[in-house]
Amino acid sequence: MSLPPSVIYLDNNATTQTDPAVVEAMLPYLTFRYGNPSSPYALGKESARAIQVAREQVAALLKCEAGEIIFTSSGTESTNAAIMSAIAADPDRKHVVTTRVEHSATLKTCEMLAKRGYEITWLGVNSQGQVNPEDVEKALRSDTALLSVMWANNETGTLFPIKDLIEIARQKGVYFHTDAVQAIGKIPIALDTLGIQFLSLSGHKLHCPKGVGALYVNKKTRFIPFMTGGSQENNRRGGTENVALIVALGKACELARERMEIEDEKILHIRNTFESSLLSSVFDIKINGDLQNRLPNTTNVTFPGIDSEALLMLLDEKQICCSAGSACTSGSHAASHVLKAMGISDAQARASLRFSFSHLNTETEIQHVVEQITVLVKKIRKHTV
Ligand SMILES: Cc1ncc(COP(=O)(O)O)c(C=O)c1O
Repeated sequence: MSLPPSVIYLDNNATTQTDPAVVEAMLPYLTFRYGNPSSPYALGKESARAIQVAREQVAALLKCEAGEIIFTSSGTESTNAAIMSAIAADPDRKHVVTTRVEHSATLKTCEMLAKRGYEITWLGVNSQGQVNPEDVEKALRSDTALLSVMWANNETGTLFPIKDLIEIARQKGVYFHTDAVQAIGKIPIALDTLGIQFLSLSGHKLHCPKGVGALYVNKKTRFIPFMTGGSQENNRRGGTENVALIVALGKACELARERMEIEDEKILHIRNTFESSLLSSVFDIKINGDLQNRLPNTTNVTFPGIDSEALLMLLDEKQICCSAGSACTSGSHAASHVLKAMGISDAQARASLRFSFSHLNTETEIQHVVEQITVLVKKIRKHTV
């Protein structure tokens, strides 16, 4: 097996490097611990026990009860399950409120509901990408089935006023779901103090392999699965459990909990050093998002006059990874729907790159990347004037 190339990975909101301790934890369940968790004999019970441990590890990170966690295949599945459950809970409620800056897991599900006759209120955001709680309050109605607002935006890192929104939803008697895929493991979340109905998370943003997620459903909330099948996950998600990935997610959550206490300041320092170095070396750039309320690991930068896709490719040649939009939309290089919703022009949005850091990044890497960007931006601007 060859050693991995020396990539500088600054795209941790797209996915993260798998933690070797996570792989080690899951390996037995890919090899000799292959029992079906529903089987009554010891080999099966061992798998069932491993799932229970993982459920407790996820619950410990979120500060909720283990029984409130349902394992899924992804953040996308969790979000679909929450939205579909909320609308199934009361067929008379045909209205859903969400924002224009959600991930496609929410956007496309709500678009699909609109085609089925549901009314969707799409909340706008201000120039910092922030929603106004007053707009949320005005939007909620007696027939609103769900308010779904992400905890943190994947492109800008903007943190939404989740506690205020939960309170508004509570007062109006409306279910609340948050897509917390980008928030988990980056900021502390204590569900025992929040009174929220649904929360979605995804393993691969947490140094766990891809293809596993979880949905938190408050124990007082009726959950109606959109998928029918076996009685796994306490009748809430049919299909034989992916034991190895569930074990991996549990371990990743345990490690994230430990890491947050130690590494939080480091990641913030790396991000802030990157921003200040870039601002002092590259002329005329702008940081996008709510700079006061932001994930510690994310920065979104506009380089006027630069095609971000071109810069991304040149950085790739230097083995530096970042993003010109969310992973799901990059490729088409359509201007980011998030930046456009913030009132940023198409041209400026197409000149923007996202850099997202993890505890694995170092200051040496950051200084190297800033030097490379400075040279490349100068070169591109020289050729385009
Ligand atoms: C905010 C947000 N929600 C949902 C998802 C989807 O998660 P998954 O890739 O596990 O389906 C992502 C992934 O990029 C995301 O950033």
